[in-house]
Formats: sequence, C-alpha cells, structure tokens
Amino acid sequence: MKHFLSLEEHSTNALKAILKRSEQLKSLRGDETHQPLKGQTWALIFSKSSTRTRVSFEVGIRELGGRALFLSARELQLGRGEPIRDTARVLGRMVHGAVIRTFDHQELVDFAAYGKIPTINALTDHAHPCQIMADILTVQEKMGTIEDRVVAFIGDGACNVATSWVFAASKFGFELRIAAPEGFRPNEALLQRIGGNVRVTDDVRDAARGADVLYTDVWVSMGMESEAEAREQTFQGFQINDGVVREAKESVLVMHCLPAYRGKEITDAVLEAHQQTVFDQAENRLHAQKGVICWLLDI
Ligand code: CP
Ligand code: NVA
Repeated sequence: MKHFLSLEEHSTNALKAILKRSEQLKSLRGDETHQPLKGQTWALIFSKSSTRTRVSFEVGIRELGGRALFLSARELQLGRGEPIRDTARVLGRMVHGAVIRTFDHQELVDFAAYGKIPTINALTDHAHPCQIMADILTVQEKMGTIEDRVVAFIGDGACNVATSWVFAASKFGFELRIAAPEGFRPNEALLQRIGGNVRVTDDVRDAARGADVLYTDVWVSMGMESEAEAREQTFQGFQINDGVVREAKESVLVMHCLPAYRGKEITDAVLEAHQQTVFDQAENRLHAQKGVICWLLDI
C-alpha cells in the first residue's frame, strides 16, 4: 500500500515518475474516455481552509472518473473528539482513498496506518508535498529541468512549504537557499538528516543573487494566527520586491504557493508582473495531484 505523506519518503525515481505521469495527464485533460479511477470514491478530510487544494483534488478525482467526498473535520465526529484511528478504520471500509489536510503531521501518519487505504498529505504543519510537486512541474515546463538550478525561498523557512522544498532539494539536485529570520529557519537536525545543497542565511539579497527561482509563502501560516503581530514585525524585510527581483537572473521565475498577502511577503507589483507563473503553478496542482493518485494506484 503506497501513501504520499512527505517527499522525504520517496525516491527520486518515484518522484520523477509522478511528474512524468502528471505531464501525460495534463495533455490528456478533456479526454473523457480516460477514467482510471472509475468506481472509486475518495474522501477529502480537511481541518483547515483551502481553495486550491480542495478544488484541484475534487476536480482531479472527478476527471479521473472517481467520486470525491468532501468532509470538513469540524463536522465529523473527529471534531467532537473521536480518535483519528477510529475515523480512519471506518472510512477505510467505505472509501478507496483519502486526502487529508490537518495540523499535526502524526494524525496523517496515523490515518494512513489505520485506514489502510492510499492516503495523501494535502498539507500539515510539517509538510506540503503536493504543492512542491506542482511547483517542480511548473519549473520543468518553463526551464526544462530543476536540476542544478538555484531556488531561493524568502520568508518563513520553518513552515511546511519551506520544509518540503528542503526535501525536494536533496531529491532533485538543485541548490536551495533559504533567507529567513532567526527562529524561523529549518530545523538543524532535519538539515543534517536530509543533506542536499541547502544554504540558510538572513540576507535576502544574498540569497536572491543569481537565482533561477524566487519563492515565498505567507508569513503567518494556518494555525499561527495568534503570532500574527509578532511575525509581521519579525519578517519585515523578508519580502520579494523589485529590489530583490533585480538581484536574481533576468529570466527568474517568481513563485508563490498562494494565498498571497500583498505588501507583506510579496509586493503587488511583483506578484502581478509574474502572475502568469504563479497561476500556472496553481493550475499545476490539478495535474500534479492526478499524477500522485495514479502513481499510488499504479493506474
Ligand atoms: N497553496 C495551497 O495549498 O492553497 P490552498 O490553501 O488554497 O489549498
Ligand atoms: N504555509 C502556509 C501554506 C498555505 C498553502 C500555511 O500552512 O498556511
């Protein structure tokens, strides 16, 4: 039984196979005879808000011929304290796969262990692997390959998206620079364990110099709202703006997982100037996740 919980757990070959399948599925879009998920129902269990992830999974599952069942964790008995392992054992008898967005990564791991159905991470506090698969698909489409490129992540270097970029750097062989304030950098033990070409700095311009990709995410991730004011102070200066873009290669791809907070982690002008890339990136969530589902099921 395969799951897709973190990039860390999968080989480079497996991740590349998913991206290949995603490209193929993207070109097959609209071909209604291709329905490898026919007869299957997948549950989407979300404890946090979502636009892109929810819609791309719901649409993707339907386009593959399956049915998607959206379940807000708040409305499930889970929200009243039913343990995740019981929820998993019930759903495991009724649906064919699960897509889970939650806070604690361990809940996702437990769901996969007890549910015994293919389980996908739709974002936890620890990692957001589907996002980074879509991002790499986007870089490949625009630059041919991500190998040997330089990706500079500016902002909350300890968040789920940054952590998944750390895993990706070691799997795909690119240089990752993370510009983040103290206290918001990737965990040192994790960096040691994962290896790869990752450099952490507090100098945004130094990180951006000559970069092929500039990437950012919100300063206040979901679940961190009580820290919003303090974070907004701490992250001042960790913004992608015109000055930072000028440090990068002229051909730079400016990327954002979205939702974006203009004037905070990125300026409105930079986001709008690079909106083609950013929204291609958002669209690729659909294609990359279809690739993940098909790879999980060998279909
Ligand atoms: N990027 C992303 O995961 O967006 P949503 O929170 O809207 O799903
Ligand atoms: N780091 C962000 C990603 C949103 C898609 C969060 O967890 O809120």
